[in-house]
Amino acid sequence: MTSLDVKPEDSEKTIICDAAMTLGEWETGEILRNHSYPESNQIVIHRDVKVTLPLQISATYTIYSKLASGTFGSVFYGEEKSTRRPVAIKIVEASMAKTVSYNGIKIPKEAALLQKIPLHPNIIAFIDWAEAYPKHWIFVFEYHGFGQDKPKSTLNHYLRDVARSRGKQGLTENEAKKIMHQLLSACSHLEKHGIYHCDLKLDNIVVDAEGNIKLIDFGLAIEGKRSRGRTGSIFPPEMYDYYIPYELSTAQIWVLGSVFYQLFEATKPYHEERVKSKALGRVMYSKHNRPSNECVELIDWMLKAEPNHRPPSVRRVMHELFRRT
Ligand SMILES: Nc1ncnc2c1ncn2[C@@H]1O[C@H](COP(=O)(O)OP(=O)(O)OP(=O)(O)O)[C@@H](O)[C@H]1O
Ligand SMILES: [Mg+2]
Repeated sequence: MTSLDVKPEDSEKTIICDAAMTLGEWETGEILRNHSYPESNQIVIHRDVKVTLPLQISATYTIYSKLASGTFGSVFYGEEKSTRRPVAIKIVEASMAKTVSYNGIKIPKEAALLQKIPLHPNIIAFIDWAEAYPKHWIFVFEYHGFGQDKPKSTLNHYLRDVARSRGKQGLTENEAKKIMHQLLSACSHLEKHGIYHCDLKLDNIVVDAEGNIKLIDFGLAIEGKRSRGRTGSIFPPEMYDYYIPYELSTAQIWVLGSVFYQLFEATKPYHEERVKSKALGRVMYSKHNRPSNECVELIDWMLKAEPNHRPPSVRRVMHELFRRT
């Protein structure tokens, strides 16, 4: 594989970025120093957006293919030069990312939160962050997936591959349970540290060849117990009551129920209008892939319109997953 879209920078041009620091400096609280970009590279984020990588990044990693591109950034598949371990490098427009203030300096919230989370086998490991020119944040994560030959590895990609190779939608019950167990374990770990992911969905879960998953994308994560309005892309009914605060723990149970259902059906359990109206009714399954009654009942319970009628905690769902199924 050859490096993609990476061009040597004009050596005359040195761009000074006055608010960037290494993670080590941030952790130890050392005095901030300016970063220059003497031998750095430019990388094309979108067709007409180029950013210049700081030396800290270009000297450490080789960037290969693009994994995904959105309106405000892109994610690249790469490799750490010294160890050859695969990494995912996310580059996002700084103005679009939430920030927190640290000693008067703005730090991307995604990096600040990830820093606080002790390692967990089902949460992507965060390696480093930096600032690029013009103002973009760069985040480096461990890469989790199938590797260089098939780098795109979200559960959405996986479900599509499964449908193609088996000729029918959805995972088997055992496959879905294994994924749910790992996802619940990740959410329980986050909850223990006071964090909710707030954007759980198939595109934010990556899977490897052994069927083990990791949770990615903490761009919307929240520290706290309550929120207001819609966050993420799967909305439980209470998120439509715009001005009434809701509990993140029970909202998350609904979202997890929706993800569980999607592992079987590859589509959301209800249309938005139904969720808004709160008159949900029973969840429907296609005949060929209906899970066991016990599984169906658990998903129904997680998808109750009234938050207090849902399982009270992620741990309880975990317990039920193995007791009932
Ligand atoms: N650590 C990783 N390992 C493998 N693939 C990854 C990793 N991080 C990101 N990706 C890929 O890049 C995509 C976008 O990453 P991420 O969700 O973090 O960015 P985003 O800009 O917040 O995207 P979106 O707005 O679409 O949620 C993922 O859906 C996945 O395909
Ligand atoms: Mg995402």
